[in-house]
Amino acid sequence: MCGIVGYIGNQDCKEILLKGLEKLEYRGYDSAGIALLNHDGVHVFKEKGRIADLRSIVDEEIHGEIGIGHTRWATHGKPSKMNAHPHQSTSGRFTIVHNGVIENYEHLKQQFLQNVSLKSDTDTEVIVQMIEHFVAEGMDVQTAFRETLKRLKGSYALALLDKENDKVIYVAKNKSPLLVGIGSGFNVIASDAMAMLQVTKQFLELMDQETVVVTKEWVEIFNLDGEKIERAPFTAQLDASDIEKGTYPHYMLKEIEEQPFVIRKIIQQYQDEDGNVTIDPSIVSEFNQADRLYIVAAGTSYHAGLVGKQYFEKLAQIPTEVHLASEFVYNIPLLSKKPLFIFISQSGETADSRAALVEVKKLGYKSVTITNVPDSTLSREADYTLLLHAGPEIAVASTKAYTAQIAVLAIVADVLRKSKGIEKDIDLAHELAIVANAMEEICDSKDEFETIASDYLSFARNAFFIGRTLDYAVCLEGALKLKEISYIQAEGFAGGELKHGPIALIEDGTPVIALATQENVNLNIRGNVKEVVARDAYSCIISMEGLEMSGDRFILPAVHELLTPLISVVPLQYISYYAALHRGCDVDKPRNLAKSVTVE
Ligand code: F6R
Repeated sequence: MCGIVGYIGNQDCKEILLKGLEKLEYRGYDSAGIALLNHDGVHVFKEKGRIADLRSIVDEEIHGEIGIGHTRWATHGKPSKMNAHPHQSTSGRFTIVHNGVIENYEHLKQQFLQNVSLKSDTDTEVIVQMIEHFVAEGMDVQTAFRETLKRLKGSYALALLDKENDKVIYVAKNKSPLLVGIGSGFNVIASDAMAMLQVTKQFLELMDQETVVVTKEWVEIFNLDGEKIERAPFTAQLDASDIEKGTYPHYMLKEIEEQPFVIRKIIQQYQDEDGNVTIDPSIVSEFNQADRLYIVAAGTSYHAGLVGKQYFEKLAQIPTEVHLASEFVYNIPLLSKKPLFIFISQSGETADSRAALVEVKKLGYKSVTITNVPDSTLSREADYTLLLHAGPEIAVASTKAYTAQIAVLAIVADVLRKSKGIEKDIDLAHELAIVANAMEEICDSKDEFETIASDYLSFARNAFFIGRTLDYAVCLEGALKLKEISYIQAEGFAGGELKHGPIALIEDGTPVIALATQENVNLNIRGNVKEVVARDAYSCIISMEGLEMSGDRFILPAVHELLTPLISVVPLQYISYYAALHRGCDVDKPRNLAKSVTVE
């Protein structure tokens, strides 16, 4: 996690760095800092907390035309001013920012820095001290930088300033994302193009184990052996306005309400001239050769995968397993003869998912990434990519990416169904259009969800979400949404499982939110609600037109029964949003979390 930025040019870069860090805050927001290099030397400002806290301590009078910045999600060393980046070498000559984790930093400390007294608890400081160590041994800076990198085990995106050379920023990347932005008379660096769209749309992609010398006029890429690499820049397809909140008070609310548009965009992107959903025939052929699908993902994307499994099995009749990426890597299941791997990731950068992809590639199997971010690591490294077209998702709690993932999974499963000649009475493009309209109707009822949040969750210590079959998968997502932004302990349970243990937790007034959108289990889930109500739970049933019964708190518009997750999740997203708001939580940036989890 963590985000880094840098600028070298002719302008005072304080504001460019701070604005860039604000755009990267989704990557971590425990502490932040910038370093400015000018004729007086290096000026470091750092603070625990958000970029706003950093802003308040930056000295307006100090200017610099070269600088680096960092926003941190703590891995080694607790969030504090001392552990905030940038870090400096003992002499103050070198200053560094780092995103990633250096796994062998203790060993390197022992080997090279026994006589150096470190000022922080971070793995990062070891890097900058090692560079100084090698320079003291007589190496030039670029060689010292490379020699240090060769000894690092782990992930890094780095930017280094040398007080004795105000003409260059040294940059390196391995496993953590990093781009160099190309300007006219200036160049920039950023963990994500979003951070520097304010000054350029031209970016150079960096590969693992590359270093870059960035000056204001030119940029040179090298491998770790010092050989030069040529690469052309690409134009970022993002627009600065895509990443603004507009009139919304929070990104999360904006992103919840963008969902109908996202579904329509997905239909458009995956429709052929005859109006049928379609995907690249080479991907279809890859799926059709597989005897079993393995979906690998984390968090919300894993929850979308659980819904995807149902689609692949029910529509396309392909056996499918869903695995948590962080578990998969260390416990690879017994694989079928011809497996195909599907990686689902909003960011395309999740380290756990990437580690699983690396394993899968080592085993020689094919993979498809479903992601929102073109050219992300998972997209580049998998054999095929299917895009979500959801637009940038900024709020840490994922909303529109979840529904986009489910819609794309439904499209893939339906295309496979047709390619196998499996008959089913479903016109998916039409059914998804009905979903988009239903989502809009649900968004129009947001006041009702605010009331539910206030009735059920204002003072709740815990909350349960129960459902069966597809509703159960959505309950897991509803519970994750609520816990991550409101800090209420929330769990999703399969309705039938309650009596096997979880029902012991039900007390007088425990909020239980039940989904009832599946006809074949409608009576069963209602029976489960009765069981908790008999133990004094405070129940709230969200059902669907055609399945409603008296006393239901909200009735969703009817959609195809396979597509209900796309709409039943929307009330749960709103309820979580309002619960967090009523409890005074920071909706878009919940504590301890980061949007893009780039550490394992
Ligand atoms: C929850 C959330 C996380 C992510 C998870 C995977 O709201 O956002 O659980 O879903 O970190 O991230 P991606 O999808 O980027 O791989």
